[in-house]
Amino acid sequence: MGANHSPFVTLLVFLAFLTVAAAARAEPPFVGVNIGTDVSNLLPPADLAAFIKAQQIKHVRLYDADPAILSALAGAGVSVAVGVPNNQLLALGSSPATAAAWVARRVLPFHPDTPISAVAVGDEVPAALPSALPLLLQALRFISSALSAANLSSIPVSTPLPFAVILDPFPPSQAYFNQSLANAFLLPLLRFLADTAAPLMLNLYPYYAFMQGHGAVPLDNALFKPLPPALEEVDPNTLLHYSNVLDAMVDAAYVAMRNLNVTTVPVLITETGWPANGSRRDEPYATRELASTYNSNLIRHVLDRAGTPLHPEATPSVYIYELFDEDLRPGPASEASWGLFHGNGTPAYLLRVAGTGGLLANDTTDRTYCVAAEVTDRRTLQAALDWACGPGLANCSEIQPGQSCYAPNNLRSHASYAFDSYYQKEGKAAGSCYFQGVAMVTTTDPSHGDCIFPGSKRMNVTVAGMSVIQTSKAGAPFTLRLRTGIAHDQMTPMILNILVASILSWSIWS
Ligand SMILES: *[C@@H]1O[C@H](CO)[C@@H](O)[C@H](O)[C@H]1NC(C)=O
Ligand SMILES: *[C@@H]1O[C@H](CO)[C@@H](O)[C@H](O)[C@H]1NC(C)=O
Ligand SMILES: *[C@@H]1O[C@H](CO)[C@@H](O)[C@H](O)[C@H]1NC(C)=O
Ligand SMILES: *[C@@H]1O[C@H](CO)[C@@H](O)[C@H](O)[C@H]1NC(C)=O
Ligand SMILES: *[C@@H]1O[C@H](CO)[C@@H](O)[C@H](O)[C@H]1NC(C)=O
Ligand SMILES: *[C@@H]1O[C@H](CO)[C@@H](O)[C@H](O)[C@H]1NC(C)=O
Ligand SMILES: *[C@@H]1O[C@H](CO)[C@@H](O)[C@H](O)[C@H]1NC(C)=O
Repeated sequence: MGANHSPFVTLLVFLAFLTVAAAARAEPPFVGVNIGTDVSNLLPPADLAAFIKAQQIKHVRLYDADPAILSALAGAGVSVAVGVPNNQLLALGSSPATAAAWVARRVLPFHPDTPISAVAVGDEVPAALPSALPLLLQALRFISSALSAANLSSIPVSTPLPFAVILDPFPPSQAYFNQSLANAFLLPLLRFLADTAAPLMLNLYPYYAFMQGHGAVPLDNALFKPLPPALEEVDPNTLLHYSNVLDAMVDAAYVAMRNLNVTTVPVLITETGWPANGSRRDEPYATRELASTYNSNLIRHVLDRAGTPLHPEATPSVYIYELFDEDLRPGPASEASWGLFHGNGTPAYLLRVAGTGGLLANDTTDRTYCVAAEVTDRRTLQAALDWACGPGLANCSEIQPGQSCYAPNNLRSHASYAFDSYYQKEGKAAGSCYFQGVAMVTTTDPSHGDCIFPGSKRMNVTVAGMSVIQTSKAGAPFTLRLRTGIAHDQMTPMILNILVASILSWSIWS
């Protein structure tokens, strides 16, 4: 690719525009989450399904196809991209019967009660297990055939690739696929994807582009922060302005595909995210503040459906990496801290998705409450309520008969009040909104009528000896005063509120 714009190149660009547009028009883009399982206390399948449902997550990606999780999700309205682990590629790529058996055990029993949205065969195979490359495409074909034989050819089969297969990605117009992979692997892969209407799955990490860019990639650009036009990255060949690194990565993939004459395959971002903690010395940008900024802006970017500079009509769907911190992952300290939630289901930080067409109410982004999740397990809920009002020392006076939060007189609304009372009393500390998984954090004020929940902006609350005074200006320091007069002025809303489920209550995951 050079700077010359022959009519031919223009035509190609135009065709690419049309075809990717057609592929993208089918469904609105979604934000889903990856569920890695290197978690020491991973929720058991039923609790995990309840958690996903309570958080109103509609799309998840699994790295395998765990029957227990797939059956727990039946009827939950959650679409699942299932995976074939790299260590099964050899078996599935060398025998159509084995691939068919995999489909028969891992897909057919569950779909469509648990809608299987895609099969991701292997993960970053060119980098992680290059020796399996010759069999990878065969595994894709065998699985695809087995799905077709079961009339499920609508389930796309693809393989998540690392961004490293694309060379010279910045500026995007000069990108091309690693030549030593192109002919033997990528070209046939892309033709298969085009023939089967499957997406190119890519794991895209602006975080690493920034960290490894040695100053070439501005942090704000990696974080989707608006830049003055003069500071935006401009592709000298196309004059397109890149206000963020993720879009540039996606366009680099489109250009690399176009160089192989493939113009109809859309991109699906199977992983992207930002770590919230890491080694202070080597990973100083792995912070909750930046993780919140990246993921919040990412969600907004997808929901805005602005596409990319090269394909404004096509906004790739994304799976955030990842739902839970995977504390068992080896490697740099940050590896254990990519989760939106800690392993026990408590939020890792607050997502701010305000300002996107009223998705979040004005000043609720810094305010969180703890309520009963929509679970059916009454016994656990009752036990949690009893604990909160008993040993937990939550102030439950308002849910007694005759008091303002007695009505509606049902277990769930009483439990919500008690959970929130406990949560606010504990200063929203990590772990204080869990209750065996039957509680969830929300940014929606659960107060109703005369019933004002603890922490509501509708009043200054005094809970169990602690007065919590809140300022509602985003970014203003939170002042938490104990009756003893100790003030923790250093606490920011970020520290106190830790993440949310904010997204969740506004069903952005749809
Ligand atoms: C697939 O669909 C065709 C036509 O609708 C039908 O004849 C066939 O029995 C179906 N096969 C399976 C495995 O469901
Ligand atoms: C291209 O891919 C080959 C095979 O995976 C690898 O050995 C080589 O380092 C890659 N080239 C670049 C520039 O990354
Ligand atoms: C792409 O198309 C051009 C023009 O038809 C042709 O010269 C080139 O060989 C093709 N490349 C591939 C990888 O098919
Ligand atoms: C963050 O990572 C550092 C370095 O591994 C660790 O010492 C620290 O405990 C972690 N902090 C949290 C809140 O997990
Ligand atoms: C936000 O606040 C403004 C001014 O207080 C108000 O006019 C607007 O309706 C509010 N928007 C939402 C979504 O609550
Ligand atoms: C809450 O308390 C603060 C500090 O005492 C006060 O400035 C504020 O007006 C109070 N807000 C309400 C709604 O009572
Ligand atoms: C419990 O809450 C009620 C009503 O909000 C309040 O009047 C009472 O003082 C609280 N009790 C304690 C011990 O804080």
